[in-house]
Amino acid sequence: MLNPIKLASKNFLSSLDISSEEFFHILEIARNFKNKDLEFKFKDKVLGLIFDKSSTRTRVSFQVAMSRLGGMTVDLNPTTSQIGRGEPIRDTARVLSRYCDVLAIRTFKQSDLEEYAKWSSKPVINALTDLEHPCQAMADYMTIKEEFVDFKNVILTFIGDGNNVANSLILFGALLGIEVRIACPKGYEPNDLVINSAKKMYKNKNLLKIINDPISAVQGANVLYTDVWSSMGEENQKEKKDRDFLGFTVDHNLIRNADKDAIILHCLPAYRGKEITDEVIESKKSRIFEQAENRMHAQQALLSCILS
Ligand code: CP
Ligand code: NVA
Repeated sequence: MLNPIKLASKNFLSSLDISSEEFFHILEIARNFKNKDLEFKFKDKVLGLIFDKSSTRTRVSFQVAMSRLGGMTVDLNPTTSQIGRGEPIRDTARVLSRYCDVLAIRTFKQSDLEEYAKWSSKPVINALTDLEHPCQAMADYMTIKEEFVDFKNVILTFIGDGNNVANSLILFGALLGIEVRIACPKGYEPNDLVINSAKKMYKNKNLLKIINDPISAVQGANVLYTDVWSSMGEENQKEKKDRDFLGFTVDHNLIRNADKDAIILHCLPAYRGKEITDEVIESKKSRIFEQAENRMHAQQALLSCILS
């Protein structure tokens, strides 16, 4: 019987917090949850959600995952709690971790998330920061594994902004040892610390490629992934970024250069007609809605391990 193992790290603030053994274990539990071959109950356990930014998938998939585990969720909307009034994180974290068993936090600065983790007596999960979106990347690699069975020889090309989603994909890609290419305009490369950490994990293998030409970046790729050009909090940069990212739309012309069996991923929400066309989202190659579903299974698996 497959049982969730306790993770070595108390918190899941970054893709760096998980070992490859833990990663495969979580994906295996997630697969079993999805196939309804496994059931664990964490009755009366409470997940607190603190979301400083909007969310559909992350919020609801955490709520349903927790409910499937027999626990419950409290949604601590900052505008209706004292968080919006500016109560210090160190106070909020100490109080909420006396009520809840685990906290999932979506905020701007990674350092604020780390501050929560520092003061919380219970585990803290990164539900998206400006730097990373590790829960997303976990579900993404689950989706890739469903398609390609193992990760051997898989080439993932992310086309767009070197943002939070790209950073977490890079770090898990390095953990798995697969080739990750980032196609972005000059000036929109992923975070330097992320690149350096990934390079160390890849050892001497040159498997992380930052390329400014999308067509050459997708040659032979098995997975094409994109995300919005302007992330939450970057609304004032929209016009400039729309100009700078011209030519980086994932459309049928671009896909033609990838492997013929390539699949398309997008974390959603999408701006159809900007980073990806309507036809590509709706095409046979798209696994975008399977990917969104997998958020729930992967997070249910993650919560099982954290609560064990
Ligand atoms: N992909 C994702 O995190 O979506 P939400 O912003 O809707 O949670
Ligand atoms: N990069 C996007 C991801 C949304 C799920 C953002 O941060 O807004």
